[in-house]
Amino acid sequence: MPKEEGIAPADSTIFRQFVTKPREVGAIRRSSPALGIAIAEAVRWPDDAAVIEAGPGDGAITEHLLAAKPPGTPFFAVELNRQCAHALERRLPDLKVVVDDLANLCSICAREEVGEVGAVVATLPWSVVPERKRTGMLAAILETLSPDGQFLFYIYVQALPFWRRSPFARLLHESFETIEHGSVVWKNVPPAVVFACRGPRRAPNSTG
Ligand SMILES: C[S@@+](CC[C@H](N)C(=O)[O-])C[C@H]1O[C@@H](n2cnc3c(N)ncnc32)[C@H](O)[C@@H]1O
Repeated sequence: MPKEEGIAPADSTIFRQFVTKPREVGAIRRSSPALGIAIAEAVRWPDDAAVIEAGPGDGAITEHLLAAKPPGTPFFAVELNRQCAHALERRLPDLKVVVDDLANLCSICAREEVGEVGAVVATLPWSVVPERKRTGMLAAILETLSPDGQFLFYIYVQALPFWRRSPFARLLHESFETIEHGSVVWKNVPPAVVFACRGPRRAPNSTG
């Protein structure tokens, strides 16, 4: 396989960061193009409102979001892990990458002078993030999204049975008008399902 000069080979950044921060990174390899395409197709792309990807890693999903994005739609990425952010900046030099925590989304948007936010695509390991942290990140997303905004994410199939019964899944149902999911993307390792939550109702104030 040809190597891209100055760019870490696919998977190496995610794997190395998983070894040091397993709960934060939550995967040993980057997502497949098939999952990237499934997420990009699930976004209802706004013309003017911004789209934000949180937890882009080294850009496996990002490149498909950028390919699907209408030319005028503002887009940037929020990545907690500095090494992943550097790998992403090398891979996609024109992309704006903010090194920060999704939980700080409100202050990030204020600092970056973002107007309306039409979608947050949070491709981070939701099923292994501690409950309190998940609720905090969801509160930030709900506070940031426009009234017709969307929150998209993926869950690995092996986590689905626990996920469906989790307090966080209940909280999502309380917090959005609709929740849809696609079919299993079997070409991803592990296979994953894309969820799209639309129409934020309110900021959560309990873990359910
Ligand atoms: C499972 S990896 C996914 C990487 C990439 N989106 C993909 O699908 O290949 C999760 C990524 O989320 C990032 N992350 C975890 N918690 C985060 C947070 N609170 N805010 C922003 N990024 C976070 C991790 O550093 C990691 O890069």
